[in-house]
Amino acid sequence: MKPKVTLLMITSVDGRLHPSRFTSSPDGTRRDWSAQYEKVHEALKADAWLVGRVTMAEISKAGPHAPSKAAAVERPLHIASKSEGSYAIALDPSGKVHFKPGGLGGDHVIALLGRDVPDSHLAELAADGVSYIVSDRADIDIAAMLDVLGREFGIRHLVLEGGAGTNGTFLAAGLVDEMRILVAPAIDGGENVQGIVAYGDGLAGKLALQLKSADTLEHGVVQLHYAVLPPGH
Ligand SMILES: NC(=O)c1ccc[n+]([C@@H]2O[C@H](COP(=O)([O-])OP(=O)(O)OC[C@H]3O[C@@H](n4cnc5c(N)ncnc54)[C@H](OP(=O)(O)O)[C@@H]3O)[C@@H](O)[C@H]2O)c1
Repeated sequence: MKPKVTLLMITSVDGRLHPSRFTSSPDGTRRDWSAQYEKVHEALKADAWLVGRVTMAEISKAGPHAPSKAAAVERPLHIASKSEGSYAIALDPSGKVHFKPGGLGGDHVIALLGRDVPDSHLAELAADGVSYIVSDRADIDIAAMLDVLGREFGIRHLVLEGGAGTNGTFLAAGLVDEMRILVAPAIDGGENVQGIVAYGDGLAGKLALQLKSADTLEHGVVQLHYAVLPPGH
C-alpha cells in the first residue's frame, strides 16, 4: 500500500529554498530556521523521510569507496535490515550518492535506484548496510517504489523533504497527500534562485490545493497546511 506522503519545506516569503540566503531577523541576527523545521518534522511522527539526489549528497557527505567485503549483488531488492525507528530515503537514479556505514542520524538508509545502476554501486551500498530498491525503469517509477516501501518496509507515512525537482516530480505524479510549508519572515530576492518546487513548464492543471490551517510558530514562522487534491476536485 502506498504510504501517506507529506511534503515539508521551509521557504522565504518569495518562495525560495536556500535558508542560508535569507534576510536576517529584526534584531540583526540570523535565525536557525532549521530548528523550526526539525520541530515540525518530529511532530509529524512519520516513519520515513525522502529527498532527491542533490539534497541527499549534501546530507550524506560521503565519497565513492570500494566495498569493505565481497557479496553477491541482489536485484531488485536488498533489505539490509528493518528499522526500529525511521528510514532515510534517497531518490538516486544513477547511483551517484554514497553513504558512510551506520545510517544517517540513527535512521536506516534506503536508496531508490534506476535500472542501469552498476553492480559495483549496489555492492558498495550493501557493504555499508544500506537497503536499496532498483526500478525496472532507468528514470525510476516512483509510484511503484512507494508501493514497495509500504509492502516490504512497512512504511505508512513518509515526509517528502525536497529539493525542488523531487517535490515537482511527486506533485506532478499526484503522489503527495498534503503539504506543510513553513514560511520564514525573510526574503531571498535573488534572481534565478530555485523556488521550493520545480517541474518543467509548471503544475497548472495537475493539482489543486485546499488550505486546512495556518499557524504561527516561533520566531514569526507561519505554517501553511494544505491538502493536495486532483485538479477539478
Ligand atoms: N528549504 C528546504 O526546506 C529544503 C529542503 C530540502 C532541500 N533543499 C535544498 O534544495 C536543493 C536541491 O534541490 P534540487 O531540486 O536541485 O535537487 P533534489 O530534488 O534534491 O534532487 C534532484 C535529483 O533527484 C533525482 N530525481 C528527482 N526526480 C526524479 C525522478 N522522477 N526520477 C528519478 N530521479 C529523480 C535526479 O537525480 P539525477 O540528477 O542524478 O538524475 C534529480 O536531479 C539543495 O540545495 C537543498 O539544500 C531545501
